[in-house]
Amino acid sequence: MALDVSAVRAGYPALADGYAYLDGAAGTQLPDTVIDAISAAHRSGLGNAGGAFPASKRSDAITAECRQAVADLVGGTAAGVILGPNMTTLTYRLAAALAKSWQPGDEVIVSRLDHDANVRPWVQAAQRAGAAVRWAEVDLPSGELDAGQYDTLLTGRTRLVAVTAASNVIGTRPDVAAITAKARAAGALSYVDGVHATPHGPTDMAALGADFYATSAYKWSGPHIGAVIADPALLETLRPDKLVPSPDTVPERFEQGTPAYADLAGVTAAVEHLAALDPAAAGSRRDRVLASMAAAHAHEQGLFARLLDGLAAMRGVTLYGKAPRRTATAYFTVEGWTPAQVAAHLAEARVNVWNGHNYAWELTGVLGIRDTGSAVRAGLVHYNDRSDVDRLLASVGELAG
Ligand SMILES: Cc1ncc(COP(=O)(O)O)c(C=O)c1O
Repeated sequence: MALDVSAVRAGYPALADGYAYLDGAAGTQLPDTVIDAISAAHRSGLGNAGGAFPASKRSDAITAECRQAVADLVGGTAAGVILGPNMTTLTYRLAAALAKSWQPGDEVIVSRLDHDANVRPWVQAAQRAGAAVRWAEVDLPSGELDAGQYDTLLTGRTRLVAVTAASNVIGTRPDVAAITAKARAAGALSYVDGVHATPHGPTDMAALGADFYATSAYKWSGPHIGAVIADPALLETLRPDKLVPSPDTVPERFEQGTPAYADLAGVTAAVEHLAALDPAAAGSRRDRVLASMAAAHAHEQGLFARLLDGLAAMRGVTLYGKAPRRTATAYFTVEGWTPAQVAAHLAEARVNVWNGHNYAWELTGVLGIRDTGSAVRAGLVHYNDRSDVDRLLASVGELAG
């Protein structure tokens, strides 16, 4: 069923300020249900994990519920959900744990399509281990990441392939399943960055063939919490650095220090929120998530066509990337104006967009725009509507002619 965007928007208090929030790719707003779940957790009384008293047991329950919610969102197993402050921190942690077994002569493959959070942790871990780094290149101007190139990039020494499920600036969704299948056939593990992809459609990490799938709740209406999901049996084979008294179980041994328990309650509420986007969705929470995220995808893509058509019709606008499979994320420049000037002009018109490389460091480098302020990013999520798009088009039109 189609998503009722006015009903969805009514649930987001921040959207009442009259701004068009086209900055969702950098972080989404929170619905009341998530804000309420976080404050209810605080109000109920929380304790540190593993105690004999009710407040501690509430924290234990919140953590268990959060793992199940994240597993339902991505099609994973609750016992394989590692929770932490954000994707970058968790990826550095996983890179350090995986690299313990890397030897000089081993290889890792990263891509120039990726956010730097799925590049630098692997490059730096490889450097420390004496392993070589091989680069998957982005085809220009299409912005596609050809899966075929992995046939030559992979060797018997490849230990890990890190690849994004979607570019956070040009939206390209590579054929991750084809890439991970090649990695597996070569005996390498795959680490898929789902931070940008997860909010934009149904996720099935098994179908993606991801050994590790990373996501961040603040990109899908939750608080600032990251998660990496893997098969618990795979996690059992890894020994991350940890404190002696902290739990040695999986997934807890990958989690450092005391978690933000109330925020974990907010993550569960965010998954419930996503699962309810299609009011006609029925069945298990996983079933409802899949139906609702399909509705969110259709809604975003409808608006995106309008956004792209509008921008493409403006003489002075250059759009980057044109992959047929991409998220509703536009990355563009306006002739005669720096991206920072365009973003400032849009802010005057009450339109929130980002300008700059947005940590797509390698991609903006090969596009040749990193040193000139890169571009403007306007990203749609499920709570955006036609008036958001039209306000952006009108305002860009004032500059582009
Ligand atoms: C595609 C992608 N990967 C990784 C990250 C980093 O995520 P986090 O802020 O959770 O560390 C981001 C953040 O914008 C992103 O868009």
